[in-house]
Amino acid sequence: MTTALLKVNQLNKRYFNGYRGLRKQYSQALSDVSFELNAGETLAIVGEAGSGKSTLARILVGAEPRSQGEILFEGVPLDSHDVAKRCKLIRMIFQDPNTSLNPRLSIGDLLAEPLRFNTTMDKQQIRQQVFDTLRKVGLLPEHAEFYPHMISEGQKQRVAVARALMLDPKIIIADEALTALDFSVRSQILNLLLTLQQELGLSYIFVSHNLGIIRQFSDKIMVMHQGKVVEKARTELLFSQPQHEYTQRLIAEQGLLFNRK
Ligand SMILES: Nc1ncnc2c1ncn2[C@@H]1O[C@H](COP(=O)(O)OP(=O)(O)OP(=O)(O)O)[C@@H](O)[C@H]1O
Ligand SMILES: [Mg+2]
Repeated sequence: MTTALLKVNQLNKRYFNGYRGLRKQYSQALSDVSFELNAGETLAIVGEAGSGKSTLARILVGAEPRSQGEILFEGVPLDSHDVAKRCKLIRMIFQDPNTSLNPRLSIGDLLAEPLRFNTTMDKQQIRQQVFDTLRKVGLLPEHAEFYPHMISEGQKQRVAVARALMLDPKIIIADEALTALDFSVRSQILNLLLTLQQELGLSYIFVSHNLGIIRQFSDKIMVMHQGKVVEKARTELLFSQPQHEYTQRLIAEQGLLFNRK
């Protein structure tokens, strides 16, 4: 039996919402979420607003504690690793580069930041890796001197991808990171991500409302509804034979036909 790269078992998340009288109020954002991700694979997570997708993403990158459940990386509990090591395993591309990229830092400093915080690399090594990574995402070493406002939306998104790549992670999570981009920029970034996946053997977790993007791009899909996983399937199967009524509705709402080839 092979061990999955990432295995999530019965993950639960309750948010504390304050007191009503003396009683603590909680909301259940995730209920018994389980899934696996293998090396080189892309998992898409879909579901309507409030279904728990971002909560799950934040827990996986360590930005939010979980209430219950287990997250195993190559069979080892993820939280048995320190933060620096965790950062090297799973990284996130944030939704909007206009808010996630600090406007006061040059692109070079933005990219160097994760290396300064999480590695013992010296200045010269950091500089070299910044240049190498800029090239990997189709930018130039000269872009290191630029500030975010000096580059296009597509280039900003490339910087966001570069930043996620800096620590050489195994898994990259993108939470609606591409949804806001216009069609041609989005295709460029998707192609970039696919190329990087082939070159580096990365695994992706894609959170998106847009089933069209997901259909092209994912190997398997997990559908969430009110904090629960209602369906998991290989992408083609999910679109051709959606089992759950909620999945059928999602596909129909977005005008993506099923049961027809
Ligand atoms: N920090 C928080 N404190 C309390 N409740 C929260 C918090 N973050 C999210 N929630 C609640 O948890 C549930 C899941 O939210 P989450 O942001 O994970 O959904 P989502 O699927 O990402 O939605 P969207 O598609 O709108 O991004 C929602 O009911 C939300 O109100
Ligand atoms: Mg969200």
